Amino acid sequence: MPKPVFTLAEGTFVISSHVLILTYHKGQPLSDPSVSTTLPIFGGGGIATLGDTLLLETLAHFNRERIPERSVILVVHAKAAGAWGEFEVTNNISSLTCAKFLNGVGKKTPVLFRLSTTGGEKGSADTVRDVRGFSVKFFTEEGNHDIVGNHIDLILQFWDFHVNQPESVHALMHLFGSRGLPDSIRRVTGFGVHTFKLVADDGRFRYCKFHFRPVQGVTHFSGQEAERIAGANPDFHNKDIWDAIARGNFPAWKLYVQVMEPEQAEKYGRALFDITKVWSHKDFPLIEVGQMTLNKNPGNYFAEIEQAAFSPSNMVPGIAMTPDPMLQARMFAYPDAQRYRLGVNYSQLPPNRPIAPVYAPYERDGTTVTKNYGGDPNYVRSTLSPGVSTRAITQIRHLERVQPTATLGLNEIPVDDEDFQQPRELWRRVFDKSEKSQWVSNISETLGDVPAPLREAVRTMFSKVDPDIGQLLAAKFNGNSHL
Ligand code: HEM
Ligand SMILES: *[C@@H]1O[C@H](CO)[C@@H](O)[C@H](O)[C@H]1NC(C)=O
Ligand SMILES: *[C@@H]1O[C@H](CO)[C@@H](O)[C@H](O)[C@H]1NC(C)=O
Ligand SMILES: *[C@@H]1O[C@H](CO)[C@@H](O)[C@H](O)[C@H]1NC(C)=O
Repeated sequence: MPKPVFTLAEGTFVISSHVLILTYHKGQPLSDPSVSTTLPIFGGGGIATLGDTLLLETLAHFNRERIPERSVILVVHAKAAGAWGEFEVTNNISSLTCAKFLNGVGKKTPVLFRLSTTGGEKGSADTVRDVRGFSVKFFTEEGNHDIVGNHIDLILQFWDFHVNQPESVHALMHLFGSRGLPDSIRRVTGFGVHTFKLVADDGRFRYCKFHFRPVQGVTHFSGQEAERIAGANPDFHNKDIWDAIARGNFPAWKLYVQVMEPEQAEKYGRALFDITKVWSHKDFPLIEVGQMTLNKNPGNYFAEIEQAAFSPSNMVPGIAMTPDPMLQARMFAYPDAQRYRLGVNYSQLPPNRPIAPVYAPYERDGTTVTKNYGGDPNYVRSTLSPGVSTRAITQIRHLERVQPTATLGLNEIPVDDEDFQQPRELWRRVFDKSEKSQWVSNISETLGDVPAPLREAVRTMFSKVDPDIGQLLAAKFNGNSHL
């Protein structure tokens, strides 16, 4: 029997005797596939590197592992509704960011919106329990800015994954509550999820989180209603938003930011960059920014929504990335998927074309390119045709603190009790007695067909949130012969 070549971190579970010897895709031994090569930054953050072959190969392979026979080449975010609209600034936040589209109360920017189910394929029902993808593209005067987030402010994957990534226990607590079953996508919240930076005119930055709140309010289905509608009209949500816009009943969302000073951030701990945690609203209250209103349905769904390409790498000066390696991985993965899914000229397609002028002669030629640059130099730093920028370097470059002893390499962030604190708060302080028992039945329904050892691992994971949950789940499993 071969020995496992990596050790599982505390808090993970080995559920079978099936041991696999892991290698890179060219056969070199691999110590731990769950960890990427990063340069650690404080607060659990880190900078991913282009030298991380495992990360780049895995992301690029993931993007190509389905034949592009339908909307998105991936197994996720295939089914969606989309619409055009506009964003209007309603609050002066110029002291926080020099992003031009966020400066000037009353300023308007066209937007494209896409709201997807995560797990469902193209023909799936809209009303199943799922995290919704929440994508917004702002066509600003300085190029496109995208927020590609979720309707829940945290992330998660599914069972076998979860028991080995207990950090996502918090998102699971939310998904199996009412937030997993919105009754209309006009009434879902939206989150940028990751921590970003807002950069001011003088180059000062603050960390921030983006929040969209529906002006229509937030409401939900009961489990029974959702199931009935999934059978009666699998396209319920997509029809609902389409009809509302067609009737002139335009859905709107307010955009807010939570803002953290760098000095506060240094003391904030793991919740700073970790997208399985949220920032306290008490300590970091929402600051209003503006309002997004959707006012136009797509004329041709394929051309305008299917071919839309959102990416967290689309950022304008005034908003910047942070040392969250998952954000950095996404910044490579989305455009890579889009080059494959839509072709190398995907940026020139109508839903992706910036309204700002584009001059990028270092990307030219290739198949399906509609724009070229004649005799302009295709190399940087030409003396005859020097490139100039409209922005000062200080608005684009900013300080980040690297630990003096940082090691470049496999830097795992160990799971610790901090991963269970926020879900514990939710269970103990937010859920009342009936919500607790309902949540337990919501979650045990999905565990019916799961192998017993994995079910046990799920129970152990939730026991760390609160031993009561473990006991309630055990009672469900024991009292129910088919579980
Ligand atoms: C490292 C982890 C992740 C990777 C590698 C990844 C990768 C991808 C890729 C390649 C696409 C398809 C892009 C396209 O073809 O247009 C996609 C779609 C999407 N992902 Fe992720 N993703 C990750 C995590 C996340 C997270 C954390 C969120 C939410 C915060 C998220 C939200 C979305 C959304 C909303 C879409 C659909 C975009 C659209 O509306 O077109 N993903 N993901
Ligand atoms: C917006 O705020 C900035 C700084 O806080 C201030 O200098 C500016 O005058 C304000 N603009 C308007 C239109 O109120
Ligand atoms: C269980 O699911 C139903 C249907 O979504 C939802 O209304 C309810 O709030 C959930 N219960 C809890 C406590 O999360
Ligand atoms: C390339 O982009 C143009 C829009 O500028 C579009 O008309 C054309 O269909 C695209 N080609 C492909 C193969 O996607």
